[in-house]
Amino acid sequence: MKTLLLGADGIDIAADIIRRGGIVGMPTETVYGLAASAFDTEAVAHIFEAKGRPQDNPLIVHIAEIGTLETLCAEVPEAARRIAERFWPGPLTMVFKKKPVVPDRVTAGMDTVAVRFTAHPVAQELIRKSGVPIAAPSANVSGYPSPTTAAHVMRDLDGKIDACIDGGECDCGVESTVVSMVGRPRLLRPGSVTLEQLSEIVPDITVDKAIRGEIADTERVSAPGMKYRHYAPSAPVVAVCGEASASAGYIASVMKDGELCICYDEFAGLFAGRPCVAYGSAKDKKALAHGVFSALREADRLSPSKIYVQCPDDGGVGLAVANRIKKAAGFNVVNV
Ligand code: TXA
Ligand code: MG
Repeated sequence: MKTLLLGADGIDIAADIIRRGGIVGMPTETVYGLAASAFDTEAVAHIFEAKGRPQDNPLIVHIAEIGTLETLCAEVPEAARRIAERFWPGPLTMVFKKKPVVPDRVTAGMDTVAVRFTAHPVAQELIRKSGVPIAAPSANVSGYPSPTTAAHVMRDLDGKIDACIDGGECDCGVESTVVSMVGRPRLLRPGSVTLEQLSEIVPDITVDKAIRGEIADTERVSAPGMKYRHYAPSAPVVAVCGEASASAGYIASVMKDGELCICYDEFAGLFAGRPCVAYGSAKDKKALAHGVFSALREADRLSPSKIYVQCPDDGGVGLAVANRIKKAAGFNVVNV
């Protein structure tokens, strides 16, 4: 199939494709998504096919007005309403008990549905014009880093999807924060809406253990996506955690010919003459979130034999950045 690359003025065409059962790459404030009508099970099946996504990994349903929430969810607790008021539209997904109208194909047979009210104007307009809620995972080949530009989407999925809307670079750079609102609030995936921010509204929030550590294949996980090696270039990745100059010094001392370092901007000079990709300032975790996936893709393009990554601490958006790096590393972590 020929994949149409559309500009932001191509939303009408993209909405038409979605209404006819096609699948479209769309920009959001987090990462690019691969969009289909959430009510069209055949189109949703095509999403899984195009990505090579495991069948047991459910999709997020994207909405463009708060009223749609009631049509999808059987129960919306009071705490969820408070979170929605503060963070929606935005980079946050909440999981609820689903209504029968949400197809099993979308939720991978779970009795819950993940819903996100995106803030991106192009995504919002696409949802409105399509006239349906939009099921969309990240628009990457399964297991590969999430796409933060239309060029990333095309590199992964050209010829496998009907179209992609180019809305420029994504603002956040890491996928949405996912919180289960079934029972006690639980953080399933960290993102740009931070644990600290959520704790102000729901102080009893807990953190899923899959976020900081590896989980065995046999263990049950709350967000099925958490159990796969993810965001991973072909080369083995090592996450190096600790104070910025210490982690840079460690990497400089162990790095061999043919290996590459993904470092903070401040240390690019230290690695001059060696393969190195800088992904943002050590002092600016938002910049690190913005740059991390692009850096992993760029590192992969240079086909090194090993990739070392300077990994921030868990404070604020650091929890999300560190989680993506550790997952890319298959939890091969060095603490310095
Ligand atoms: O920022 C984002 O969330 C992007 C953009 C496109 O919206 N989407 C995204 O989708 O990252 P995806 O499919 O790559 O990741 C969705 C995560 C997976 O870990 C999945 O297992 C989890 O959300 N998830 C989806 N439905 C769920 C449910 N009913 N219960 C628990 N976890 C769920
Ligand atoms: Mg994904």
